[in-house]
Amino acid sequence: MVEVPERNLGLELVRVTETAALAAARWQGRGDKEAADQAAVDGMRLILSHIEIDGTIIIGEGEKDEAPMLHNGERVGTGRGMAVDVAVDPVDGTTLTSEGMPGAVSVIAIAEEGSMYAPGSLVYMDKIAVGPPAAGMIDLEAPVAHNLSQVSKALDKDISELTAIILNRPRNAPYIDAVRQAGARIRLIRDGDVAGAIATAQEDSGIDILFGIGGSPEAVIAAAALKCMGGEQQCRLWPRDDTERAYAAEAGHDLERVLTMKDLVNSDNVFFAATGITDGELLDGVKYKHHNATTHSVVMRSKTGSIRSMRATHDFTKLRRLSALIYE
Ligand code: FBP
Repeated sequence: MVEVPERNLGLELVRVTETAALAAARWQGRGDKEAADQAAVDGMRLILSHIEIDGTIIIGEGEKDEAPMLHNGERVGTGRGMAVDVAVDPVDGTTLTSEGMPGAVSVIAIAEEGSMYAPGSLVYMDKIAVGPPAAGMIDLEAPVAHNLSQVSKALDKDISELTAIILNRPRNAPYIDAVRQAGARIRLIRDGDVAGAIATAQEDSGIDILFGIGGSPEAVIAAAALKCMGGEQQCRLWPRDDTERAYAAEAGHDLERVLTMKDLVNSDNVFFAATGITDGELLDGVKYKHHNATTHSVVMRSKTGSIRSMRATHDFTKLRRLSALIYE
């Protein structure tokens, strides 16, 4: 039987992240992360409303920072076409954007309806992620040294040649200590653990494993990307206090459970798109030229394993006629 891959929704979704990135990039370095986020949300919403999907936002961002968000449960798309769960992070790296630092991206992932994990108000997860060679070999519950040794076997590299990427937060100090103890190298990041997780699955990134506690929405989005790339991520909810523990009990979230790729995104039909806002290792940021701007994006699809790098030029004189607000 010959099955021709049907519509690649990623190719439409990339217009969503491009628009969000173009809108947010105007705020680069201006010290106003809410404005950058709001601009990206507005851009995303505008384009999403024209995409032929019957979508529900499962992962919207904002609960942690009370940021302007695409709300969980919000219906997006034309209402026609495939019924899908939608995960968005209009700006992963709001501070990076507002401070003009590298690595901010706009991301979206979609998968079949009912497939995405909804963490509710539990904003953090403990995470471990690796690329395809070490997929199936890691264990969130095992010591850091064991996981490094597994990755070292998978990649046929000495532990001293491995690099772990970790969000630079006091809560991640035990991970930092353990990686140092084991003799591996560390790449600390200020923000942006979606791009960090993706880096583990990119052959030339120089990043071999991600450890540490970061955002729950970002965990689901990163799982979608890793599903397309053949990597693996495991997570566990990480409540900050007793109020969150009580909420978890009430909402039926098991705080002990290791969430696998299947728990995070239970679908083999996943689409992912990301566009750079500021320059970073994964993607170049938005660059302005005379009357136009360029964007750099990545588009992925799990079913076919296609990963496309896409550069686009956007003509503001034409786009402003369509939406003066978004393409200011
Ligand atoms: P924002 O852009 O929403 O601020 O997220 C950036 C980020 O670094 C994520 O990549 C990461 O998962 C999360 O924040 C970590 O949360 P916190 O900054 O509260 O430690």
